[in-house]
Amino acid sequence: MKVLVIGSGGREHALTWKISQSPLVDKIYCAPGNAGISSLAECVDIKPNDFDGLIDFAKKNNIDLTVVGPEQPLVDGIADRFEEEGLLIYGPKKEGAILEGSKIFAKKFMQKHNIPTAKYVVFENPVDARNYIGSGEITCPTVIKADGLAAGKGVVICENMVQGMNAITELMENKKFGKAGEKIVLEEFLVGWEASIHIITDGKDYLILPCAKDHKKIYDGEKGPNTGGMGAVSPSPQIDATMNETIKTKIIEPFMEGLKKEGINFKGTVFFGLMLTKKGPYVLEFNVRFGDPETQVILPRVENDIVPILYSVAKGKLEGDIKMSPNVAVNVVAVSRGYPGKYEKGFEISLPEPTSSNITVFHAGTKFNDEGKLITNGGRVISVTALAPDIESARKEAYGSLKQIKFKGMFFRKDIAAL
Ligand code: AMP
Ligand code: GLY
Repeated sequence: MKVLVIGSGGREHALTWKISQSPLVDKIYCAPGNAGISSLAECVDIKPNDFDGLIDFAKKNNIDLTVVGPEQPLVDGIADRFEEEGLLIYGPKKEGAILEGSKIFAKKFMQKHNIPTAKYVVFENPVDARNYIGSGEITCPTVIKADGLAAGKGVVICENMVQGMNAITELMENKKFGKAGEKIVLEEFLVGWEASIHIITDGKDYLILPCAKDHKKIYDGEKGPNTGGMGAVSPSPQIDATMNETIKTKIIEPFMEGLKKEGINFKGTVFFGLMLTKKGPYVLEFNVRFGDPETQVILPRVENDIVPILYSVAKGKLEGDIKMSPNVAVNVVAVSRGYPGKYEKGFEISLPEPTSSNITVFHAGTKFNDEGKLITNGGRVISVTALAPDIESARKEAYGSLKQIKFKGMFFRKDIAAL
């Protein structure tokens, strides 16, 4: 079987790594991939938004299955285009991807199908939004979200009214994220532990993947601006068997019912971003793809082959099961100094072979330069996942291994999985 993976981050490295272990797979391509992925797959220089280029490549190379990493191509309809061409693809069509592509759609879906979520109001113009904030009807902190995709940066936690007013100006008038911020959701601020729950579904049946927790803030102690994710742990320390059951009955089951009632044909991954509050789990957001860096801790805990599962979903009928490892996985991400703001690229990376078989290195922003040297090529550069019987050993191994890696301006959090 020939598989094409779309994307270039740590998530796609983890997907490629897992797919490469399948006896069913003879060849993997990745578009565009990164330096780490190139040791497992042939990287082809086609961008994830070049649908014509990808379709042409898939046809010429007799690709049996395409697996999509990032959300943007899904929201833009890559799965619709592949299916029109008779190509099998793992990832939802536009009708399902809108659950991530529009926060307003997602909130309405949750409200309609009784999925617990923060109270919210939608605004389509800045005057109404400002009047509402000025009316004193809300208490701060409050949360303002751009309706559309904003590369994970469209959520502003407003500590006071002035910040709220500024967020409205930035999103709706200065159009910081273009059309994505023309409409906004203003919602209640929730307090609790965040958790990431992933399912694989064909729209009717589903399989639950190992649960995870990511650390989104740049600094230790969950301080500073949000990033794409600085590390993750699976299972989430805050999820026990009772919470698992609650999540299933209060969130996953009503979600699946919602899909059926709305007639949404969803084939792919749903990643529920949750807040575990005192009143139970609430959904912060739906994602229609695997999380990054959650995938880097989830897939190392899946003991069986995922290719038959992904393939069955792409064909329309979910088959198989997930065999979860009892071990704990911890992933720590090394980033370029300055990230998530401005940072420099092009620094050489010293990357010794891991000394333990429990360690897997996943590349994100890396490439080989003209001299064949491994260099930094992004904000999130490289990460290490350790698999161990308990969280403390996994942390120790992950940090021990990460400290062997060196590049100029390297920065990482010291408290991943410690909270
Ligand atoms: P989202 O893209 O909706 O997951 O939001 C990004 C991040 O903002 C989340 O991971 C949370 O840390 C935070 N966040 C979003 N919505 C809320 C909320 N209603 N209350 C508190 N924090 C939130
Ligand atoms: N780690 C959060 C995300 O992938 O959206």
